[in-house]
Amino acid sequence: MKDYIYKFVKKTFPVCYLVFVTILLFSISACSDNETSPAPPVEEDLVTQFKLQTLDSIPYPPDNLPRYERIALGRLLFYDPILGGEKDVACGTCHHPEFGFADGRQLPVGTSGVGLGPNRILTQSSVSGLPLDFTPRNAPTIYNTAYNFDENGNSSHLGFQFWDGRVNGLEVQSTKPITSRVEMRGDAYPGDDEQASAVALDSVISRLRAIPEYIQHFRDSFPEEAAEWDAGLREHIIDSSTYARAIGSFERELVTSNSPYDRFVRGEKDALNDVQVKGLKLFFTKAKCGNCHNGPMFSDYKFMIQGVPQEGPGKDVLPGDDTGREEHTKNPADRYKFHTPTLRNIELTAPYMHDGVFATLEQVVRFYNDGCNPRHPQVTDDMMDPDLIQPLGLTDDEVLAIVEFMKALTDPGIGLPGYLLTVPERVPSGLMPVFGVKGPGSGM
Ligand code: HEC
Ligand code: HEC
Repeated sequence: MKDYIYKFVKKTFPVCYLVFVTILLFSISACSDNETSPAPPVEEDLVTQFKLQTLDSIPYPPDNLPRYERIALGRLLFYDPILGGEKDVACGTCHHPEFGFADGRQLPVGTSGVGLGPNRILTQSSVSGLPLDFTPRNAPTIYNTAYNFDENGNSSHLGFQFWDGRVNGLEVQSTKPITSRVEMRGDAYPGDDEQASAVALDSVISRLRAIPEYIQHFRDSFPEEAAEWDAGLREHIIDSSTYARAIGSFERELVTSNSPYDRFVRGEKDALNDVQVKGLKLFFTKAKCGNCHNGPMFSDYKFMIQGVPQEGPGKDVLPGDDTGREEHTKNPADRYKFHTPTLRNIELTAPYMHDGVFATLEQVVRFYNDGCNPRHPQVTDDMMDPDLIQPLGLTDDEVLAIVEFMKALTDPGIGLPGYLLTVPERVPSGLMPVFGVKGPGSGM
């Protein structure tokens, strides 16, 4: 019996000791609680205070659910210069993983270009010998375009695409670059601009149909449509709908939601450093950035006038100028309106604004700090949001803190399967991926 008690005490002593110490510590901390009543953790506060959000699950179109074969096919198409009229440019030329799925340039060089990214130069059309111009707008990233908002202010598979929001959804968007002369069409098709754009998509589809490897890929990616084609109910397995869905499918997977900011929102208190936390607070208060750059995408996707100075060849409404949303709606009330862009991965996609006029994020913050100056000469104060024309009075330190905070929105694809972040070694056309017939270094 004595022996038994001894064993019992010996066995339970560590537990008793632990319970005792815990009670002691608890009562000490309870006492100090009463004295100072500390606030809840600061980080938790910021998330609720500024309604900080991270990305939810991808909004898929009902007719384009994710399927490995389709995503992989979209990737091949994305990098295949067979889509370019003169076979010397691919989507990946201007949306390249090395440059955050943009091109690192103020204004892109499409057809007739040689080289990649900032080193790419203009030459002339290989077909007509005529010079081609820069693409009039800065290339946005493809990362997270799956989450662009629609008219109702929600991330949707019909989200606005382009700086002027002229199309809804990645599928529709994917047919557009092919028809633009400076982007991808070049002088490959006869007729004036309208005639040539009208034939461009059809010719690209015909080219794809002539490549057996693509037919096989489309069959594997679209089993229902393949069955319809086999049954004679469908003209071909490759058409504008399957083409568009394949490309959209690839782009939609390029999601980056593991930035330090996202980890902070998910509760990792140390994910942001002190300067970034300071920048975050300024972003949503004194600097007013959060008035427009908010929500999971750091954009409300609303159209507004920032008065950004115009550079580059411009568009159609006022030749030499880019009137923004008016180019699409033809409504003068929309003159110089562009939609708020996402700030996710903004560190990777310099230069900035619709015409890439600012080289650094610091220049962008200084532009806002100076009441949106330097200004487009046609944009007067009364055309703009009164909050924008007021100088913000940010000190140099505060400007830099905001820049540092924006860098916390960077996620170069951590957690994405590797193949989504690389250029395929070969594409079914046999052309050189991204570069096509002009090759990477020809003439350079
Ligand atoms: C010559 C360079 C160039 C090529 C080639 C190119 N793009 Fe773009 N892309 C741009 C530019 C510039 C814009 C912005 C144009 C605008 O807003 O009017 C853009 C916009 C986009 C957008 C909209 C993103 C957003 O958030 O608004 C998507 C998506 C896109 N491109 C996908 C593609 C696909 C798919 C291809 C191939 C079929 C392609 N691009 C080929 C330069 C290019
Ligand atoms: C009234 C709405 C609004 C406010 C406030 C605002 N922005 Fe913007 N932001 C926009 C719009 C619209 C554009 C695109 C303008 C253009 O390209 O002509 C833009 C563009 C940008 C860009 C360039 C994005 C790119 O892809 O090139 C950055 C960076 C940026 N804003 C950061 C900020 C910061 C930092 C603040 C606060 C100091 C701020 N914005 C305040 C609406 C706003």
